[in-house]
Amino acid sequence: MNDMAAVGRRALSPNYYRDPEVFARQREGLFFKTWQFACHESRVPGPGDYYAFSVLDQDLFVIRQKDGSLRCFYNVCQHRGHPLVEESGRARLLVCPYHAWSYGLDGGLKGAHGTKDQPGFERSRICLSRVRLDSLAGFLFVNLDGQAPSLAETFPGVEAAILEACPSLPERAFAQEHEAEEFCNWLIAVENYNECYHCRVAHPTFAAGVIDPQSYDIHPFAEGVKSLRHTAKAQSGKGAWYDTSGSDYASFYLWPAFSLQIYPSGLVNAYHWRPRDVANTVVHRSWYSKEGVIDDQLQRVIDLDRDTTFAEDLKLVKRIQRGLGSRGYTPGPLVINPEGGIDSEHSIAALHDWVREASGD
Ligand code: FES
Ligand SMILES: [Fe+2]
Repeated sequence: MNDMAAVGRRALSPNYYRDPEVFARQREGLFFKTWQFACHESRVPGPGDYYAFSVLDQDLFVIRQKDGSLRCFYNVCQHRGHPLVEESGRARLLVCPYHAWSYGLDGGLKGAHGTKDQPGFERSRICLSRVRLDSLAGFLFVNLDGQAPSLAETFPGVEAAILEACPSLPERAFAQEHEAEEFCNWLIAVENYNECYHCRVAHPTFAAGVIDPQSYDIHPFAEGVKSLRHTAKAQSGKGAWYDTSGSDYASFYLWPAFSLQIYPSGLVNAYHWRPRDVANTVVHRSWYSKEGVIDDQLQRVIDLDRDTTFAEDLKLVKRIQRGLGSRGYTPGPLVINPEGGIDSEHSIAALHDWVREASGD
C-alpha cells in the first residue's frame, strides 16, 4: 500500500477488537501461522538451558542442545499431558512431574518406569512435539505452522537493516524485562505502538527526552513486507533523558506482535505482546545491553520509560477498549499525510490491511 492509497480510509469496525469470533479466527489464521517472539538467545546460553512461554493457550519451551543449537517443543508430556517445565532453568534431562517420564534435550523419550516389559511399548517412537524456531539478529521466534515461510523470507531485508541501525547488536544480551496486563485487544496495543500522532499529546516526556518529534516518521518497511519502520532524530535538547549522541532512533515492528527499538546512542529494547483473550493482552518490555549489564544510565532510562511512555500507553489502550464498545462510536477517518511524518496514520491503514487479510475478510 502506498501512502496515497491510505487517503480516505476510516478506522476499523469495533468488531475486530471486541468480537470473540473474530479473535477465534485470528487464533488459527493469524497467531498460529505467523512468527511469535519467544526470547532472546542469550536467555538460553548453555546446553540444557530452557525458557518456557506461551502462544495463546499453547505452552512451549526453547531449549539449548548439547551441540549449541536450539530447539522448540510444545511443553507437554507425551504420556498424559502434564507440562514438563516452568519458566526457565537448566536441565540435563526433562523429567515430567506427574509420573517421571524423562526426555533428553533432543525431545526423545529416555525413561518411563514400569514399561520395560510392557508389550508394544516402543520407547524410541515417543518424543516431544517440535515447533519451528528461527532467529532474527539473536531474537528467537517460533511458528506453529510447519509450512510457513522462514523469518528471512517473511521479513526480507529487515535483519540487515536492523544490524545497520545497530552494528553492535550481536554483542547484546538480555538485561531486564517488565510486563503488564493491558486490558485491551492486542490490535489496540499494536496500533497504539505504531503511530506517533498521539506522542506529543500523550507522551510529552518521550517527545522531549528521547526523540525529536518533528523528525518522527513511520513507513511500511517495503512493499509486500509486513513490517513497519519507525525513524526519528535523537533528542538533543535540554530535556534529553541521557546522552543521546552517536546514533538516532529506529524501530522495526514485525507483524503481528513484536517490535525491536533502538533508542538513540544504541539502547536496545523490545516490545512484545501476548494476547490472552479478545479483550486482554500482556505487553512485555525488555532491554538488551552488552553482556546484559545494567549501568546507572540504562536503569534510569528503563525506569523513566516504564513510568512515563509505558504507563501512559497502558491508560490509553484500556480506555480505547471501552470506547470501542460505545453505542455512540462510529469509526472515524484516519489522518493521512502523504508526506508521512509524526501526524500521519498511514501505518494504521497498513495494519488494518494485514488484519483483514489474516481474519479472512
Ligand atoms: S503425564 Fe508425564 S509422566 Fe505421566
Ligand atoms: Fe504511545
